Amino acid sequence: MSLGIVILAAGKGTRMKSALPKVLHPLAGKPLLGHVLDTATSLKPDTIVVVYGHGGTTVQATFPDPNIQWVEQTQLLGTGHAVQQALPKLQTVDQILILYGDVPLINTDTLQQLIDRSITNTALGLITIKFADPTGYGRIVRDAVGNILRNVEQKDASIDELTINEINTGIMTAKRQHLGSWLNRINNNNAQGEFYLTDCIGLAVADGIKIISAKPKCTEEILGVNDRIQLGTLERYVQKKYAVELMHNGVTIMDPTRFDLRGTLQTGKDVSIDVNIIIEGNVVLGDNVSIGPNCLLRNCTIGANTQIYANSIIENSSIAESVRIGPFARIRPGTTIAELVHVGNFVEIKNSHIGIGSKVNHLTYIGDSEIGNAVNIGAGTITCNYDGAYKHKTTIGDNAFIGSNVALVAPVQIGVDATVGAGSVITQDTPDAKLILARSKQQVIEDWQRPKKSSKK
Ligand code: UD1
Ligand code: CA
Repeated sequence: MSLGIVILAAGKGTRMKSALPKVLHPLAGKPLLGHVLDTATSLKPDTIVVVYGHGGTTVQATFPDPNIQWVEQTQLLGTGHAVQQALPKLQTVDQILILYGDVPLINTDTLQQLIDRSITNTALGLITIKFADPTGYGRIVRDAVGNILRNVEQKDASIDELTINEINTGIMTAKRQHLGSWLNRINNNNAQGEFYLTDCIGLAVADGIKIISAKPKCTEEILGVNDRIQLGTLERYVQKKYAVELMHNGVTIMDPTRFDLRGTLQTGKDVSIDVNIIIEGNVVLGDNVSIGPNCLLRNCTIGANTQIYANSIIENSSIAESVRIGPFARIRPGTTIAELVHVGNFVEIKNSHIGIGSKVNHLTYIGDSEIGNAVNIGAGTITCNYDGAYKHKTTIGDNAFIGSNVALVAPVQIGVDATVGAGSVITQDTPDAKLILARSKQQVIEDWQRPKKSSKK
């Protein structure tokens, strides 16, 4: 049975009050439509068609996957019309599933079960749910023995129908041939003057086609995002779920309501995560890693027993085992930090390697540098890697000692075991194992007097 999935995403999203198309707003760091596309892909369909309208080119550019087909719906004439626009791309599939670009959390298992039952029974399949307050949704009308008869939209419903609390989630699956024939027969004679996809339900009943329905596992699965409040609600729901999953896997999360995962997180044993942590992209934390409060970790790997102290930022970098970073450290892209390194407060490191056991403890900038093992970098040391036009490299040999407040003007190499005196401005390569001073000698100026203001009457 070949499957085609249609994702409706042509709506304006007016209530987001945003220049960004609604389906590109991120949920847990991924665009809403990205969530739906991932779920769609997990169902292994033959074809995925996204029906887009507003902001189409931006939406397409965000998902360059060649397996996605794009269909523009220039005029929003209703959900039935939208699906009809996609049908020409689905001529070879047997079964069609309709999803929504702004309903991001629909679950693969819920959909797979619905599709399987729909195929087995040659039935139209719907996902429905009972809501205490069904306002705004289409209502599922059933007969006395519980068979679904049709859907009626809020705006077309009678007073009696408005009391029905079983609602249509919009998610539907049916044989392509059936759906095509129903869509040919729907009209827009209704309160909104739209071609309703939901009218297919009544037509299926008229054709003697069986209707089946399934419930989602939880309400959030079928919730749509129309404004930023609904987006915020789903964001908190997803984050809570991630935190609970991690805790189940043995991670300590000090406060699951102050944890944000916007990507993937792999964790070893006994990882501990303090409050206000943001994890983005792909992050791997080894055994016994502890992350202090207020840290941002983006695309990084952190080795076992490493401690990240408060207010540190680590991006596109790799940190080995038993390292100490922070508090207030910034590790920028392209950095590799070897075992047993200490990086202290107000230290920025960019595109550099720090060798085993080296220490960069205070108020330092290390950029485009290769630092050996067991090196000590004194407080306030700066690698001057930029000449105003080009970036240059600094190399520091093993066991070198760089005194406080040294400026290393790149390109420059410091020898193995070299000692650079505090306050030096190093502009030339230095030999191994020597003391290097590049500053003026201390002097006492005997006849100097401090200027005084002349006294005025
Ligand atoms: C629809 C259903 C309703 C269901 C509700 C669930 C119909 C007629 N009604 O109503 O039974 O309870 O969803 O949320 O289907 N879209 C297009 N092109 C269009 C119109 C809509 O792509 O021409 C897309 C929208 O971007 C949106 C989705 O389809 O993502 C639903 O459209 P919307 O107008 O919000 O339908 P509802 O009135 O909410
Ligand atoms: Ca809607």
